[in-house]
Amino acid sequence: MVKTDHIIRSQIAGIGSYLPAQVVTNEELAARVDTSDAWIRERTGIRQRHIAAPHESCAFMATEAARAALADAGAHASDVDAIIVGTATPDQAFPSVAVRVQAAIGAGGFGFDLSAACSGFIYALSMADSLIKSGQARGVLVIGSEVYSRILNWEDRGTCVLFGDGAGAVFLRAGEGAGRGEDRGILSTHLHANGQYGDMLYVDGAVGRPDRPGHLVMQGNQVFRHAVTLLSETVNEALAANNLPQSAVDWLVPHQANLRIIDGIGRKLGLPPERVVVTVDHHANTSAASIPLALAEAWRDGRIERGQLVLMEALGGGLTWGSALVRM
Ligand code: UT7
Repeated sequence: MVKTDHIIRSQIAGIGSYLPAQVVTNEELAARVDTSDAWIRERTGIRQRHIAAPHESCAFMATEAARAALADAGAHASDVDAIIVGTATPDQAFPSVAVRVQAAIGAGGFGFDLSAACSGFIYALSMADSLIKSGQARGVLVIGSEVYSRILNWEDRGTCVLFGDGAGAVFLRAGEGAGRGEDRGILSTHLHANGQYGDMLYVDGAVGRPDRPGHLVMQGNQVFRHAVTLLSETVNEALAANNLPQSAVDWLVPHQANLRIIDGIGRKLGLPPERVVVTVDHHANTSAASIPLALAEAWRDGRIERGQLVLMEALGGGLTWGSALVRM
């Protein structure tokens, strides 16, 4: 009998991460700029962040996270057909971080970087899902890797206390599903952008311009206001598209920008705090790396289990925002 109800699903086979060894606490920052541990904790939930050493480039960290994801999946470089890296802080204008990773792990196929700031991982996951569903790839490494420490103005207390460095990766494999919410794999992704808000959060320079590499500039309270509204809309959109109630969500794995935003979305979803994965306290905001870093932590310590429903959401410069609903 011919089966007509089987569709391709992109399934998370393995998850990995990498964090620089150096940790910088709020107190250490307070010795450099006019801030305090109390202000940073109260307004953001951040206690500390990891900061990359000179050898910990975007590609180096991406490679380490990719290797960990492949090992977790029991997969090899020969299983990788494509590599997508979400990053706003590549080491060079080109070649891409993705091909640096490809060379380092000895994979074939193809690879490219994707620029969507803090939404980079969600965007990359969505592109990978499309590649798998269209039959262009069966194994895809999706990586978020960032070294924001290199684009921060370390004299601007409004931004330098907020970010950290790191990388996270998932290895996606083509699997099968019945086209229902019980399927394992990516159930949906939703992407959005509004370039009218481009000047709310940007870098005032460019990679490849040593005279002006650029610093991150943010109207924090404006971004905050939009984040609460747009992220609430996008999580509702994800559930409605899959015909699933809020109560079906086992875990919220949000972009880690601010604990107040994360708590707000968790409350809107009716999720108890212990069902929301929070890493902003010890990683700070690692932009495109924050979701896979959080996912890796909760996967490694056994909180997130196979079969559970995970809702991811992010908002970042662009503005860009979006969600991914995944059954592990
Ligand atoms: O990941 C991409 C998306 N990004 C986000 O989602 C970030 C969203 N925004 C935020 O998380 C928050 O807006 C911030 C944490 C960035 C700022 O918090 P806020 O409650 O919106 O503070 P604010 O910018 O309105 O500033 C309040 C006060 C100001 O002083 P005055 O004007 O009231 O005297 C700032 O100068 O806090 C001051 N301030 C600081 N004080 C001590 C700003 N930064 C600091 C600091 N230490 N580090």
